[in-house]
Amino acid sequence: MARRKLIAGNWKMNLTASEGAKLIADLKAACDGSCKCDCAPEVLVCPPFTTIAAVLEAVKGTPIEVGAQNVHWAENGAYTGEISAKMLVELGVSHVIIGHSERRQYFGETDETVNQRVKAALAAGLKVVLCIGETLTEREKGVTNAIIEKQVRWDLADVSAEQLDNIVLAYEPVWAIGTGKTATNEQAQEVHAFIRELLGKMYCPKCAEAVRILYGGSMKPANAAGLLAQPDIDGGLIGGAALKAADFMALIQAAKA
Ligand code: PGA
Repeated sequence: MARRKLIAGNWKMNLTASEGAKLIADLKAACDGSCKCDCAPEVLVCPPFTTIAAVLEAVKGTPIEVGAQNVHWAENGAYTGEISAKMLVELGVSHVIIGHSERRQYFGETDETVNQRVKAALAAGLKVVLCIGETLTEREKGVTNAIIEKQVRWDLADVSAEQLDNIVLAYEPVWAIGTGKTATNEQAQEVHAFIRELLGKMYCPKCAEAVRILYGGSMKPANAAGLLAQPDIDGGLIGGAALKAADFMALIQAAKA
């Protein structure tokens, strides 16, 4: 089964509302019309919360989708600084990134809270980009697969096979994020294949075949083609290179079928 590639930009804590709108305008200008062809990948951008409204306005008339970078699991309540799924839905976003390693590393995110966020987002009708990945120490200890399995099983606990349709996984080795170090094509493919096999056991082989698994971690125009050519790599979750229109457009072009 052919899976349509997805190129997703994670803007992290970058770009104000006006800067975000400008980046979308630059992307539109850089698109030669072939961005709308059937061979084009799905394109998603995930700006900071305060930039989302301006970006939603700027992408009107384009196929670019807009997501958030996190969501709380409660519908509302005394959770200072948090944003609920209902708020995101009313704003008009379609996707939300959950469990990014920066949230796990700097903000105490655990597999348990990731799972709660995933379930709340799905229940509200959002599509989820679920991030998983091992640290350098874990890779060096040879426990990459064990860590990935623990994250996938825990983060997707109580998620049904039907709900899996609304999940995209992003394998992001922590040691490759923002470091300029990319996993080799083979290292990435090996983990992606492992994740797909695991999903096959947790759900069914056919369900696993349909799930898109993105690679993330210093993906850029220079290394994208090799990664995207791997059989189990279905796109990219891109940080740094998503902030420059020319680079992001080059990644969209690299993902064309
Ligand atoms: P990077 O970030 O492309 O800057 O390494 C990827 C990510 O954190 O999603």
